[in-house]
Amino acid sequence: MTDEEGPGLDDDLCVTACQRCPALVDSRSRIVNGVGPIDADLLFVGEGPGANEDERGEPFVGRSGDVLDEALRDAGLARTDVRITNCVRCRPPENRDPRAEELANCRGYLDAEIDRLDPELVVTLGKVPSEHLLDRSVAITAESGDVVDARLAGASRRVLLSVHPAATLYDRSQREGFFDTIARAAELAGIADGSGGQSRLGEF
Ligand code: URA
Repeated sequence: MTDEEGPGLDDDLCVTACQRCPALVDSRSRIVNGVGPIDADLLFVGEGPGANEDERGEPFVGRSGDVLDEALRDAGLARTDVRITNCVRCRPPENRDPRAEELANCRGYLDAEIDRLDPELVVTLGKVPSEHLLDRSVAITAESGDVVDARLAGASRRVLLSVHPAATLYDRSQREGFFDTIARAAELAGIADGSGGQSRLGEF
């Protein structure tokens, strides 16, 4: 990366300066980095910050975040047990989807975060992160709950696809499936209550 683009990730897996996407530099209040332990077994990847995240500087702190937190609690996990990040770290204007070039500009940061974290399992929250990380089109409602292998940050990794937590707010019928997927994530990563810290990914 050049000086103008800013440095890469710091020791806390954070980007402290970046000017790569002019529209996002204009629309953001701050860069929203991933949160959670830098050695977490479970990494959740969302699309990008919304208004609440942009204001507070933390991923998934609005209504979607409330749903994610509730599903984590149901699975016996605290938010602080897992790492949560996004495909892009700056809020797109008017909450539009991040553009292909913006996803590409931010990819190096996400890959560096995945590489340094080296999680047992990556969970994609929604269609945008699923398609971005798998590099194919994804019918997310149909594929939610599926575990696939993907080459990410130079290694083959297990990825669990999930609908976005916001989908449960628009369509209440998606709630049970979303909660089941998050419980499955905890179990597969070996961090669910009663799993004894043993990952079950070898079974898949
Ligand atoms: N939706 C996302 O995809 N990411 C967030 O951080 C918040 C909402």
